[in-house]
Amino acid sequence: MPLQSSPDPAAQNPSPVATRAAELATALGPLAGDFALDWVSECASTNTALVDAPPADDGRIHVLVADRQRAGRGRRGRQWLSWEGASLTFSTLWRFSPGAPAPAGLSLVAGLALARALEQLGVQGVQLKWPNDVLVHGNKLAGILIDLLPGRGRPPAAVIGIGLNLRLPAGHGIENQTGVTDLAQALECDAPPASAAVLAGILTEMHHLFHTYAAAGFPALRGAWQQRNAFADLPVRIVSDQDVRIGICAGVDDDGALLLRTDTGMQRILAGDVSLRPLTGDAA
Ligand code: BTN
Repeated sequence: MPLQSSPDPAAQNPSPVATRAAELATALGPLAGDFALDWVSECASTNTALVDAPPADDGRIHVLVADRQRAGRGRRGRQWLSWEGASLTFSTLWRFSPGAPAPAGLSLVAGLALARALEQLGVQGVQLKWPNDVLVHGNKLAGILIDLLPGRGRPPAAVIGIGLNLRLPAGHGIENQTGVTDLAQALECDAPPASAAVLAGILTEMHHLFHTYAAAGFPALRGAWQQRNAFADLPVRIVSDQDVRIGICAGVDDDGALLLRTDTGMQRILAGDVSLRPLTGDAA
């Protein structure tokens, strides 16, 4: 008589995160095998988790998604607030082969991938605020945080974390003078598409554009970035802990540096710990 195995309860009744991970793999289609997908219900920060304990290099792109972050991090030491079901928060670990282009352009490429994925979903008027905020009609829809991992003799690697507002709860209390928006509003619908479908679109664009970036560098993507530059030819302030520089946003250089036309000539601004703001207003 054949042995009968008892049914695996987890397989019969998968958790919500396992279901979403399976939906994500399905939506990625043939690309799914290039990714190692981990979807958890909660962690402190998906970026911190991948930085502190990078998974072994198995040739795949590691993705960590969290329904909820207890200590989400934003750029320039800020907090990143998100709500379960209201936000998509995830990080990806990319390893670049020796001789890959300088990481300076990475954040712009990530922003461009996000913009293109949103456009595929039907969002109109997506713009990029250097180095990598994604705006819709001037309001922030998504942000990107990049942590570079020290090489220590290995190929360079970067953790690219993305926070995207899907449907912000009423009275969310985000203090942000630029204004914030969410995907539901950007698509003018009541319920945004499922998070797994949105994430599959973003990962697909990242896969495609990072391949181009590794092979041909930022110059191959510069035009696409500039087409979406929210501040093209507009007066801006570049604010750092040390100083404030004022000029006209003249686009980006071949390595992703911002070009600022000032009274004393063109200046190149590297992303680091600076933020770009319109000359008028206090927007962050
Ligand atoms: C910013 O605009 O300041 C960047 C925000 C980046 C937030 C994301 S959410 C997923 C990942 N984990 C984090 O702790 N931060 C990034």
